[in-house]
Amino acid sequence: MNLTKDKTGVMTTARKGWNPRLVVFACNWCSYAGADTAGVSRIQHQPHFRMIRVMCSGRIQPGFVLRAFEKGADGVLVSGCHFGDCHYVFGNEKAVEQFEKTKSVVKMLGLEEGRLRLEWISAAEGARFAQVIDEFIEQLRELGPSPLSRARSGDEAAGALTPEAEEVEARV
Ligand code: FES
Repeated sequence: MNLTKDKTGVMTTARKGWNPRLVVFACNWCSYAGADTAGVSRIQHQPHFRMIRVMCSGRIQPGFVLRAFEKGADGVLVSGCHFGDCHYVFGNEKAVEQFEKTKSVVKMLGLEEGRLRLEWISAAEGARFAQVIDEFIEQLRELGPSPLSRARSGDEAAGALTPEAEEVEARV
């Protein structure tokens, strides 16, 4: 693997000139706080992600993930509290059920399984947050740009869903 440093000084692999777009859904009480812990602890990690804070990982429906891919994400990470720590008791168990449905939707869209990930990260696990982000970004670099975003062109990428995706979204 050809390691180089990007603009931020973070080590990256080949595919120069291309950075994956990762969308991270993080629950307010654990994973989002874990990201905050990574920040205040000045733990370096890849910067190529956008975070969407939700109150609980159980809130992440397949349609949310589909929309992220439709809007150009190359990968989606769903993260929440460890079992037994969910602020809403069973929210993360619900997240597992939703994630299974999401995996089916992603498969229906012809996307690789490696573009989707579910991880439990606590508020204290800043280092783990950074590690998960780095690993996932590297995995996405290996996979390359999402076929869904590649299939869309300029104006379309910022606009409405494709008819096929609308059909899938209506079913989930
Ligand atoms: S509050 Fe974090 S997973 Fe439910």
